[in-house]
Amino acid sequence: MLQDNFGRTHDYLRISLTDHCNFRCTYCMPQEEMEWMPQSKLMSKEEILKLAETFIGLGVKKIRLTGGEPLVRKEFPELMAALSKHPVELTLTTNGVLIHKHIETLKNAGVRSVNVSLDTLNREKFLQLTRRDQFQQVWDNIELLLQNGFRVKINAVALHGLIEEEICDFVTLTEKLPLHVRFIEFMPFAGNHWQSKKVITAAQMLDLVREKFEIIKLEDKKHDTTKKYMVPGFAGTFAFITTMSENFCAGCNRIRLTADGKIKNCLFGKEELDLLGALRKGENIEELIRLSISRKHKALGGQFDPDYLKTNPDAIENRSMIKIGG
Ligand code: GTP
Ligand code: 5AD
Ligand code: SF4
Repeated sequence: MLQDNFGRTHDYLRISLTDHCNFRCTYCMPQEEMEWMPQSKLMSKEEILKLAETFIGLGVKKIRLTGGEPLVRKEFPELMAALSKHPVELTLTTNGVLIHKHIETLKNAGVRSVNVSLDTLNREKFLQLTRRDQFQQVWDNIELLLQNGFRVKINAVALHGLIEEEICDFVTLTEKLPLHVRFIEFMPFAGNHWQSKKVITAAQMLDLVREKFEIIKLEDKKHDTTKKYMVPGFAGTFAFITTMSENFCAGCNRIRLTADGKIKNCLFGKEELDLLGALRKGENIEELIRLSISRKHKALGGQFDPDYLKTNPDAIENRSMIKIGG
């Protein structure tokens, strides 16, 4: 069992398969020229499996595959198939554009739930945000997932000035479709030009939703990142991920493994321990994992101002989002 000094048990591992992505979302990837990780620094398929097995041996019960975009990794189908042999809940977070090529892989691996990033329902805005004209493909793939019985969560990063005019459209989507839309408060990462004035908080978004809908609060579970709501009678739900206005670190059960094999004990943790390096040298990986967990901060990697929105983004030591995987 991986327990930290605050009594939190860590049984949910997020593995980033690659730092590559077929989109160029402005809030995730620095505008400045990005350097991709060289192949030799990336975990091979075998190394990913070995590390995953070690984590499972230490009590991990859920593995989420992330990126960059996890589906651009060529070995995705083989990795899924191999991971599905273990007693873990398998899932992924994807931009959705390649889902149609992997439906069978996901079904065969026993995946039941998929999180798809979609920040706007407008094709023009989608192009501006992602720098790719792929709205229709992503939408078709969300429908495809639903038709195939997957639980689908939509991740919409809420940018002040952009989400306002669409937030009710997203909620309306949940009327007929059993979708779970999550509005995510914009978070600071290296190169994403975060400013507090670009954040719209969950409370502000709720006010907008309440202008149009009668809503009810749903129960949140201990490890949830979300605060959930629904419009009574609608097929789906909507929720807020409130990192910036009310963190949920007290219930944290997450550990991260970057595509270059570093363990991050927190999304905002600045310390990274080199598991891949240790594996390649034949050193004790379990010990390193325990060391990392023992050094986890109480909240937000210990890097935020107590008044979160006053945090100076330049003082946060971290990677860009594309190199963490969310
Ligand atoms: P579920 O397992 O379905 O609850 O997914 P999730 O919300 O944990 O993961 P997903 O990859 O869909 O991420 C959605 C948003 O939540 C992204 O913006 C992530 O960066 C953010 N997020 C995920 N895990 C954490 C976390 O541990 N801490 C914080 N602060 N944000 C997180
Ligand atoms: N703030 C909040 N969420 C973000 N994501 C990417 N960058 C940010 C950010 N700066 C979201 C993506 C994806 C998930 C893994 O993280 O939309 O759905
Ligand atoms: Fe856990 Fe760090 Fe996320 Fe807080 S910010 S929930 S401690 S990973």
